[in-house]
Amino acid sequence: MAHDSHGRTIDYLRISVTDRCNLRCVYCMPPEGIEWKPMEGILSFEEIERFAAIAVENGIRKIRLTGGEPLVRKGLVGHVRRLRAITGLDSIALTTNAILLPKYAQQLRDAGLSRVNISLDSLDPDVYAEMTRGGRLQDALDGLDTALEVGFKPVKLNVVVVRSLEQDLASFAKLAIDRPIHVRFIEYMPVGDANAVGARGHQGCWTEADHVPSDEIIETLGTAMSAQGLGPIEAVHKGQGPEGWGPARYFTMPASVGTLGVISPLSRHFCGECNRLRLTADGRIRPCLFSDREFDVKTALREGTDREVNEVIAAALREKPETHEQRRGTVRGMSQIGG
Ligand code: 5AD
Ligand code: SF4
Repeated sequence: MAHDSHGRTIDYLRISVTDRCNLRCVYCMPPEGIEWKPMEGILSFEEIERFAAIAVENGIRKIRLTGGEPLVRKGLVGHVRRLRAITGLDSIALTTNAILLPKYAQQLRDAGLSRVNISLDSLDPDVYAEMTRGGRLQDALDGLDTALEVGFKPVKLNVVVVRSLEQDLASFAKLAIDRPIHVRFIEYMPVGDANAVGARGHQGCWTEADHVPSDEIIETLGTAMSAQGLGPIEAVHKGQGPEGWGPARYFTMPASVGTLGVISPLSRHFCGECNRLRLTADGRIRPCLFSDREFDVKTALREGTDREVNEVIAAALREKPETHEQRRGTVRGMSQIGG
């Protein structure tokens, strides 16, 4: 088992396989996109697989693939299959905007992918198009349907709550009533360029005013669902939530098949239980989402021995911060970190 210098067990690795994406979510990328990293700057699948195998020897048990949008990288299905074959790895999950799931969900399942999390921030086609700068809601919904059809279980839906976008949270909760969907509302986090133009033209990719604390999210949901005769919502005890519990707090509605959850990175940060490392597409280990401190492992993967790769992992574990500094903004945007 790997431990960091604050006694936390580190068994979860998030791998960003690309910084590219087929959407341009307002809180994630500027309208014109970002300058893509040149391909030679991006780790090859082979390099990622080597890193993953060494990480598993160091105690990693779960891997999640993220992006950008992981499904835009060619050959991802084979990558999943090879990662799945690493002895000692318990599960491999994917975070996706679902646009390409109709094409790949079955192949991914056959390759041994364990779970999918789908990022979807509005069920109103116009708001969805606004948030993603041109995405088609129906494509994402088709992706969600396919994920359920091919039998991924659980399917989690991640909804980033941004106040100025006035999302209808109850519409998401209703999705969980008759289908095994776990809807998780995520507090909007201060990641990325603080000077960019964010939601609804706000200055700053992230503004304090757009952050909705999860207690407020639960209250809004509870009121809306009860008013529609679908409440009350009730807290689920630990151990009864969907597999891959993570840092969410879960709730159910009467007779619902799925659950609701909130993730509160800001209002109740879970740094004390943090179990993760991140690998960026350009080959850096990022011990904390909110800290720009990174450890170059690409050089070791290209020129070094396994021992040198191990040394970089050890340094990242040693330097993993105890908690996130109260920062506003990071050098990299979310599409370059992987959420
Ligand atoms: N705050 C919270 N979540 C974010 N995501 C992207 N940017 C932010 C942010 N600033 C989410 C995406 C996706 C996941 C990888 O991270 O919507 O669900
Ligand atoms: Fe793409 Fe996800 Fe960023 Fe949206 S949030 S632009 S789907 S990487």
